[in-house]
Amino acid sequence: MTDQQQLLEMEAAYCSWGDTVHYNEPLKIFTESEGLYIKDAEGNRYLDMQSAYGSVNFGHRNQFFIDALQEQLGKIHHLASEYVTREKIILSKLICQSVESVTGEKGRVHYNVGGAQAVDDALKLIATNRGHRRAFAFEGSYHGRTIGASAITSSYRYRSRFGSFTDRAHFIPFPYCFRCPFGKQREECDLFCAKQFERLFESEYQAVIDPRTGATECAAFFVETVQGTAGYIAAPDGYLQELQRVLREHNILLVIDDIQMGFYRTGTLWSMERFGIAPDVLIFGKSLTNGLNPLSGLWAREELIAPEHFPIGSTHSTFSNNPLGMRLGVATFEWMQQQDYETHVAEIGSYLLDKLKELQQQFPQMGDVDGLGLAVRIEMCEEDGFTPSKELTDTVKQLALDESVPTEDGDLRLILDVGGHYKNVFTLAPPLDIGRSEVDTFIVIFKQQLTKAIRGT
Ligand SMILES: Cc1ncc(COP(=O)(O)O)c(C=O)c1O
Repeated sequence: MTDQQQLLEMEAAYCSWGDTVHYNEPLKIFTESEGLYIKDAEGNRYLDMQSAYGSVNFGHRNQFFIDALQEQLGKIHHLASEYVTREKIILSKLICQSVESVTGEKGRVHYNVGGAQAVDDALKLIATNRGHRRAFAFEGSYHGRTIGASAITSSYRYRSRFGSFTDRAHFIPFPYCFRCPFGKQREECDLFCAKQFERLFESEYQAVIDPRTGATECAAFFVETVQGTAGYIAAPDGYLQELQRVLREHNILLVIDDIQMGFYRTGTLWSMERFGIAPDVLIFGKSLTNGLNPLSGLWAREELIAPEHFPIGSTHSTFSNNPLGMRLGVATFEWMQQQDYETHVAEIGSYLLDKLKELQQQFPQMGDVDGLGLAVRIEMCEEDGFTPSKELTDTVKQLALDESVPTEDGDLRLILDVGGHYKNVFTLAPPLDIGRSEVDTFIVIFKQQLTKAIRGT
């Protein structure tokens, strides 16, 4: 029995299957990574089009981050969260300044480990300010898998076995223009969806407002500007501004979950810059530390998070203020300052999109191809270009993972991410430093595996 087979037998016996590892049968053991590439134990190379769900935006084993980590290891590697380090203070200032430069708003930052925990903290922040934490969220939303975050994540599948969720969000249809939930066409809809949201506040019988007092049942709206897990669907121009207007009119807090779309994924540091909106609360995680440390956090407007509103001890976690994460967060800001991602992501994102649209001419199964920056979607369909095809998506993903394709860059496979309301969307999120030649390589492999999958299905 090979070492690999032995390890896999041990995995089957000793590891819980309750995470998502066994979505990918047969399992592979990954051993190395560098820049845009990952290697498995058998020496196969993969072009990474997923960046660990957008948590390695600045490339695998980027030396700048390794140096920062090593520097911090030489100083102080961990400390009880009740004590403070220089790195925490500096990172907080950098985040506050970055938000203030976009929105003009002053605020403070609060940390945790992992996106869902930061979402839970946001729910607490809302509750301490408004007396409860009932919220709006979108159909297709994904805010994480803690009990709190699951209540505002739309999939019932994530809640079905875990008790009652009395604080479950009030879910609103997302403006998913390729499959408009209201059956409209974008060119002539005049943002009918935004009007439908506003309509909820017209009378008490729409179930969200008491017009006599102006009280609303939901205190906040959790928004992904570009839906992540639901298939990289960007809200259409003007929609989020309209939503923000309605929320402000009714004193409902706007919470932007930028955990996946932050850190230049859409071409700007924070995705709100692409949509012209300003949140009351901003949540971030993933690439805050480029995947070297599970750090997350939230920024909130001063009037919500000042100590009298979010008092000492409101939340706590052993690792929430850990110095390694803080130093890496600072490194992220230093790194971003040295790069010109605003130009590069716009340029390479549109190059990738153009190449995909060329391919779409040959493959009607690529029903929708769209993107914002380097958050790019390919919605896979039947030959009619519209009926969702999860089967074709899964086949392409598996072929790309299992079979090497000869390219100018050597034999390569692909790490692809699948999302979407119908689990039929490739959500492409390569490390941001991807260049034209790697995009070309991706297209060669994707085309070959798509051709094979169509022939075989
Ligand atoms: C938009 C969004 N919010 C929250 C989360 C949860 O983050 P984590 O997996 O770090 O708990 C994710 C993870 O994919 C996400 O994409």
